[in-house]
Amino acid sequence: MPTGSADLPRLFSQEPLHHMSIQPLFSYLESSTLALGWGHIDKLDTTPDPEEWLDIEHAAAARQKEFIAGRNLARALARSLALPDAPLRRADDRSPRWPADRCGSLTHCATVCAAVVSTTKEMQSVGIDLETIGRVEAKLWPTLFTARERDYLEQLEPEKASVEATVFFSAKESFYKCQYPLTQSWVGFQDVELERSDDKVLRISPTNGDKRPWHAPPIHIAAVDEQHVASLILLYR
Ligand SMILES: CC(C)(COP(=O)(O)OP(=O)(O)OC[C@H]1O[C@@H](n2cnc3c(N)ncnc32)[C@H](O)[C@@H]1OP(=O)(O)O)[C@@H](O)C(=O)NCCC(=O)NCCS
Repeated sequence: MPTGSADLPRLFSQEPLHHMSIQPLFSYLESSTLALGWGHIDKLDTTPDPEEWLDIEHAAAARQKEFIAGRNLARALARSLALPDAPLRRADDRSPRWPADRCGSLTHCATVCAAVVSTTKEMQSVGIDLETIGRVEAKLWPTLFTARERDYLEQLEPEKASVEATVFFSAKESFYKCQYPLTQSWVGFQDVELERSDDKVLRISPTNGDKRPWHAPPIHIAAVDEQHVASLILLYR
């Protein structure tokens, strides 16, 4: 018989995730190997990890706060998957350097942040992004969207178009974060094109070059609260 907590099966070391500070996100996609959540930066744990602090010690206070909140959120998600605690350092190119047993992605806006963590056994790469609705003004559309995407946005009612432009922008950011660990390459906003599949899912395709594995997964969309939308891409093995 087990005599102490160290003897308990790993399953019982998992912590309940969704409490006051960490709220569910894309919960229909969660599994024993995939954890997601979002929270208000002010309500998340902002105690710095000593190693992670080295990557942010010279930044402005608000940036330090979002960086630490995002990492503590990712740590809580990893713990809920029974993954051991490990610092999440920042690479020279500013991307997060996930420990070999997991992949993940982080995002923050001024007041909220979100994260996804999965095990590398099941997942090749992931990307998540949060955006504030209305931030993607129409004057930015020619830079951010292809002619076909703009045609679609221009047919929508102005209010709907503003939300949809935010969703499309977020989806491209999620895609970028998902492909980067696999390619270490820059992708421009005109290099990919989005299309709606339904109210929860977008599809992405390259506008030049061949379709690669990271163009295949659906991009999931969700409203986080009244001001924010989130997007998520999961590239399973
Ligand atoms: C890196 C980038 C994607 C970050 O997105 P953002 O909306 O500005 O900011 P977010 O808060 O959502 O995300 C920031 C987090 O992304 C992660 N990140 C940074 N660079 C990354 C990269 N190359 N790959 C994956 N994740 C990265 C980091 O975890 C960062 O948070 P942290 O510094 O606290 O660790 C964006 O600034 C960028 O450079 N984009 C490149 C061009 C592009 O988006 N093309 C889209 C066409 S497909």
